[in-house]
Amino acid sequence: MARIVCVLGNKGGTGKTTLSHMIAHGMALLGKRVVCVLTDLERERLSKAGRLYLPFDAREAANLAKVVATLNEVEDWFGVIDGAGNRPDVDSHLANLADLVLLPFRDSHEDLRTVLRDLEWMPRAWGLPSQWPQHAAGRAAAQASIDRLLPGMRHRLLDPIPEVLSSKLFLQYRIPATLPWQLTNACVELAMQVLELLDVQYESPHAIEVAS
Ligand SMILES: Nc1ncnc2c1ncn2[C@@H]1O[C@H](COP(=O)(O)OP(=O)(O)O)[C@@H](O)[C@H]1O
Ligand SMILES: [Mg+2]
Repeated sequence: MARIVCVLGNKGGTGKTTLSHMIAHGMALLGKRVVCVLTDLERERLSKAGRLYLPFDAREAANLAKVVATLNEVEDWFGVIDGAGNRPDVDSHLANLADLVLLPFRDSHEDLRTVLRDLEWMPRAWGLPSQWPQHAAGRAAAQASIDRLLPGMRHRLLDPIPEVLSSKLFLQYRIPATLPWQLTNACVELAMQVLELLDVQYESPHAIEVAS
């Protein structure tokens, strides 16, 4: 049976789609076979050309059922399902079939309040700080907001994903032949965290050409 990771949350713009592709790309670099599943009715399907993972269009419920059924039958594959926001009924369905639920949120009080509700509502889910400030003062302020608005939730948060402007390349219909190393590094680090939460072994990232 494949493992399914769902990237969910009620709020739009938190980075669900981008992070789904980053996880899929990072896992592929760590030697995994991954399908990245689109469920957002507002988004267009993306070309698989040049990608290390397979994008799959499951905007129709029948296609979602099909890909989930296929994932349930195959070994050694990973499904990363990108939720759409503002559809608690769909999120609840996806959360039920997931091995791991991630809830991205940005450093804003609105996002923090929303993710707190989602974390309370989905007790097995993990919060994923997304588009996180990279400079020290910004990170300290963001951490202070977490301490204030997500009290008692620190043990349910992954390490923050930095703001990486080139991450938007994953949402192009076709991705460029080469990606900036900052983006590659962020993808691999994120995928390692995800695989560790799934308790899955992966190839050493030292075997990969990741610049630092
Ligand atoms: N780590 C990141 N660094 C910088 N920009 C990001 C990052 N993640 C997402 N974005 C940008 O934020 C916006 C919303 O991201 P998206 O993945 O579409 O969110 P959602 O799917 O939750 O609506 C997009 O413009 C995207 O390029
Ligand atoms: Mg989206």
